[in-house]
Amino acid sequence: MSKIVPQKKIRILLGVCGGIAAYKSADLVRRLKERDFDVRVIMTESAAEFITPMTLQAVSGYSVHDALFDREAEAAMGHIELAKWADWILIAPATANTIAKLSVGICDDLLSTVVVASSAKCFIAPAMNQQMWASSVTQENISKLVSRDCHVLGPASGEQACGDVGFGRMLEPLEIAEQLVDYQQGQGSNSLPSNGLAGKRVLITAGPTVEAIDPVRFISNHSSGKMGYALAKAAQKQGAHVTLVSGPVNLTTPYAVDKVDVISAQDMLSAVKNRLVGCDIFIGCAAVADYTPVDVATQKIKKNDNDMQLTLKKNADIISWVAAQSKKPFVVGFAAESENLQQFAKSKLERKKLDMICANDISEPSLGFNSDNNRILILDKKGVQLQLPAASKEKIASDIIQQVSDRL
Ligand code: C5P
Repeated sequence: MSKIVPQKKIRILLGVCGGIAAYKSADLVRRLKERDFDVRVIMTESAAEFITPMTLQAVSGYSVHDALFDREAEAAMGHIELAKWADWILIAPATANTIAKLSVGICDDLLSTVVVASSAKCFIAPAMNQQMWASSVTQENISKLVSRDCHVLGPASGEQACGDVGFGRMLEPLEIAEQLVDYQQGQGSNSLPSNGLAGKRVLITAGPTVEAIDPVRFISNHSSGKMGYALAKAAQKQGAHVTLVSGPVNLTTPYAVDKVDVISAQDMLSAVKNRLVGCDIFIGCAAVADYTPVDVATQKIKKNDNDMQLTLKKNADIISWVAAQSKKPFVVGFAAESENLQQFAKSKLERKKLDMICANDISEPSLGFNSDNNRILILDKKGVQLQLPAASKEKIASDIIQQVSDRL
């Protein structure tokens, strides 16, 4: 657990709205306090249907504020004092209703009034049904809040309390607390993730593909998937909804990323085709096998002659298929080259009709395939060229995602 040692504890005013995820708020208060944040809680009226003020008072150590017109509360700490007390305001869970009110400045309860009355940095962790989250009105409201420097955390994808599956789940309390620590540590530096991809849908392919020869043998490559997974994490941290279509790798799925496991190039193509609608950005980071056996033997092939012939056929080029669609997303490719890096990358960018390409030199053993580091040359279709110096795949990934976000 990362712990910050601030000179003065950062004061977080936690606004709890009325969604089922409110039951996680007590845990969220604990996670924030463990990380040395000072936490006071405001609840909306409907939040009290899901969790009691008593519980949040017990974990925060302060009385819970829930009414705008309460003479006693106003005499102790009224809405203006609360607004001034807060260094940060965190709204978690943030419902579609509260997000809508904040986007237009309605002040009809204590929480919405305090937000408008405060100059504190505001963080929002949305939690709602996937359709409510996907609706254009919620997305417009979120964009307005982001443009006013509000930082959106999540939401995550997964099974929802109502039985639906999709984006809209509140991030887990531990993840929210860790993201706030990251934010605090990154303040004032370039490492601070922007929220430039809030609400955008990003589809990423990663890892190798595995092409079966018979039940025990296959053709594959050395791709570790590390770059694609780092890109998924970096895009998620910028607020995007990320789907990762991954070949077989030995990596943990980044938090709040929706992962689809595939084996062969054909599986990867089908998974991409099924998930492309509504996608804003496609990043083809997978090392897709160019060829696959024409026939897959149903039984293990026996060792007989000195030579054996294996006939291969060409696999479809997934990224070219994406770039050829009439409603195509912003398409980013990768080019792993062992010579003529710039020239080969440029011709790949043009031939595959990409918007941007990230080229890396695989002749250097300490970089690229299977390594934790990489050095990338970025080219885009407007002729802009940018060399990212050798760095960890995490750092390179966040720089690439920033470059994509800047071009959208
Ligand atoms: O042609 P080449 O394999 O060098 O191109 C690399 C780029 O094309 C990468 O972005 C890779 O993910 C993508 N690609 C693909 N489908 C293939 C082969 C490559 O999407 N069958």
